[in-house]
Amino acid sequence: MEYRLITRLAEQPQPAHLISWPGSPLLAEVDCPALAAMVDRAAAGDIADTQFACAPFARITLIPVAAWQDALTDTLLGHLRPLFAAPASPQVLLDCTRLENASVLAKTLRFLFNLDHQLSDLGLKSQTAPTTRVTQLTGYCQPRALAELTETFRLQHAIAHGMLAARRLADIPSEQCTPQFVVEEAQRLCASWPQLRCEVLDERAIGEQGLGLLHAVGKGASRPPRLLAIHYDGRQDGPVRSYVGKGITFDTGGLWLKEGAGMYTMKYDMCGAANVLGLMLSIARLALPVRVMGVLALAENAIGPEAMQPGSVARACNGMTVEINNTDAEGRLVLADAIAWAAKRHPQTRFIIDLATLTGAVVKALGYELSGLMTQNEALRASLTAAGIASGDEVWSLPLDKRLKKQTDSAIADLCNTPGNNAAISASAAWLLHHFCPAEIPWAHLDVSGTALWREHGRSVASGRPIPLLMQHLLDDIVQ
Ligand code: BES
Ligand code: MN
Ligand code: ZN
Repeated sequence: MEYRLITRLAEQPQPAHLISWPGSPLLAEVDCPALAAMVDRAAAGDIADTQFACAPFARITLIPVAAWQDALTDTLLGHLRPLFAAPASPQVLLDCTRLENASVLAKTLRFLFNLDHQLSDLGLKSQTAPTTRVTQLTGYCQPRALAELTETFRLQHAIAHGMLAARRLADIPSEQCTPQFVVEEAQRLCASWPQLRCEVLDERAIGEQGLGLLHAVGKGASRPPRLLAIHYDGRQDGPVRSYVGKGITFDTGGLWLKEGAGMYTMKYDMCGAANVLGLMLSIARLALPVRVMGVLALAENAIGPEAMQPGSVARACNGMTVEINNTDAEGRLVLADAIAWAAKRHPQTRFIIDLATLTGAVVKALGYELSGLMTQNEALRASLTAAGIASGDEVWSLPLDKRLKKQTDSAIADLCNTPGNNAAISASAAWLLHHFCPAEIPWAHLDVSGTALWREHGRSVASGRPIPLLMQHLLDDIVQ
């Protein structure tokens, strides 16, 4: 989707779908018979929408002021979603004069730019009803707001670019979207950006470099595991910032088999990894002057004769051993190895942030709006929390300290992958992970089980979160 900004209606290619609010200065420039009655309606607090008698527009929608000013953006997006289920025109003219709250504006733009990916685009439906696609978004603003809005549009467009790639990859069914397939897609997508370079560990390299936890999780599947590191060098020197994503291409639970109902959502258990890839693409698109490494820990948690067994012990690449009590707690295993590997690869790392659909328990604790943040580094906690508020992609902290120590005690190994008491499940996973990041590297864990997916037509699909959060956090961190 292309975009541009205008300060006068005359610059708008027509006929567009106009989205505005009653009282907007833009309406003074509009000459159309339907308008007066619509303004009254929207001013009284109802949405006013017409596709008739609205020339020179294809459609006019006036949304009450309260919706544009709701800081949570839910009301505004609640109005916009049904309008774009079947767009009236490839051109959208968005009146930005009441989008004063930065996170509401950012979320609205991301929603519109994200219309570029639909499930039907995967080509798996033999008959799709032809619907109009939005191809150009025009923002209307007043001249004094133009410079700032130009920057916001550019940023959100780049963020959406990464979200779209990540969402598309996550939506591909897991029998096609295997660890090797993710690697190939990443290589293909990164090839467009000379500053991005892929480093791949196949199952042999995984063995040679001692990533025994990643190997343990992946060995039950006929599709072998991979570790993919994507390097971005937007400058030659300076610290590297690292992101690690959980990339379980399908999570059956292993021998600790999950129930069938809802298991289809476990093809999305690679959203952490997909979003690391998306973030790298967004960074490359913005040509940020930083060094970044994205590590994708890719494996399928399958059942079969080679599958890891409850009670087995495996060794990570930092030498620590883990008793695998529960084969369904596989995410922390692959992440532990990937975090330790990332720290070895770049010992001078400014921070490591991992993102993972790690526990169902974080959804019980925080719901579907907030990602769970667990860290012992107060500076990272503050900066991630602030970036969440600024971007509208928010996090909330769960506790992480040594009171959780007994949650990872094992009689036979250094650590056990699940607590025997079934308590503090999300934080216990984070406690296990912290052993794999050297104490001198600031580290934070994001549990995105509730946020990496959203419900669309009653089904779960990938959301692209927390790419907006991480991009905001990175931008804030660069200027610091
Ligand atoms: N991938 C799941 C977590 C998950 C569950 C994400 C539901 C999204 C929706 C993870 O691998 C898992 O199975 N976690 C277990 C942890 C338990 C065994 C300690 C869980 O949440 O039940
Ligand atoms: Mn699992
Ligand atoms: Zn999982």
